[in-house]
Amino acid sequence: MEENQVLSMPRIGEKAPEFKAVTTQGDINFPADYKGSWAILFSHPADFTPVCTSEFMTFASLEPKFNEANCKLIGLSVDGLYSHIAWLRTIKEKITYKGMKDVEVKFPLIEDITMEVAKKYGMIQPGESNTKAVRAVFYVDPKGIIRTIIYYPLSLGRNFDELYRVLIALQAADEFGVAMPADWRPGDDVIVPTAGSCGVAKERMESKADMTCYDWFFCTKKLDKDTVMKKVLKK
Ligand code: BEZ
Repeated sequence: MEENQVLSMPRIGEKAPEFKAVTTQGDINFPADYKGSWAILFSHPADFTPVCTSEFMTFASLEPKFNEANCKLIGLSVDGLYSHIAWLRTIKEKITYKGMKDVEVKFPLIEDITMEVAKKYGMIQPGESNTKAVRAVFYVDPKGIIRTIIYYPLSLGRNFDELYRVLIALQAADEFGVAMPADWRPGDDVIVPTAGSCGVAKERMESKADMTCYDWFFCTKKLDKDTVMKKVLKK
C-alpha cells in the first residue's frame, strides 16, 4: 500500500458507510438490508489461520444468542469466496475445539479481495498489516448508525463476553435513557443523566427515592436484570 494512501476511518455516531458485497450467504447491501436490526460487522485477518478459526467457532456457537438480542452478524476478510467456503467447510467437518464441534457458520462472510470494504471501514491498518484486515468490530444500530467500534490486533482473539455485554449495554442505554458505569453487567446499577439544574441536583442529593448520589454529578439507580433482558430480548 502506498505510504500516503488515505484510508477512511468511520467514527461512532456516523452513518455506517454503504457497500454491496458478495458473501457466503449471497449478496448483501449494507446497511440497508439490516434496517430494523442491530448488526455487528467484523473483520478477521485471514481464512485458515488459528486465532480466526477459534473466533469463528465461538461466534457461530453464540450466533443464536446475538440473534435473540435482535442482532445479526456479518464477517469479512480480504480472502475470496472459494477460500471462505473451503475454510468454513473445514471448520464444520474437521475441527473440534473447546467442546465446539460440527460448527456451521450460518452468518454471511464477505469476500473483499479488492479491500474496498476493508479500506472504507478502516480495517486495514498498515502499522499492523498492509495485506490483512485487523480484528475490527462495528456495532451498527437499527437506523444504520455506528454506535461502537472495537479494534484488536492480529495476535489477539476477541473476548465474546465483552462483545455481547456491549450489545446489551447499548440497547439498555437506549431503552432506559441511562448510561452504564465501568464494568456494568445486566442487573448492576445504572447512571442517571446528570441533573440539568442546581435545584434538581440538590433535590436528588437529598431525596431517598431509589437513587444513590455520590455527588451532584454522579447518581445511580437500580435496574434489575429481568427488566433489562425482557426489553432487549423483547420477551
Ligand atoms: C490467526 O488468526 O491466527 C492470525 C491471523 C493473521 C496473523 C496472525 C494470526
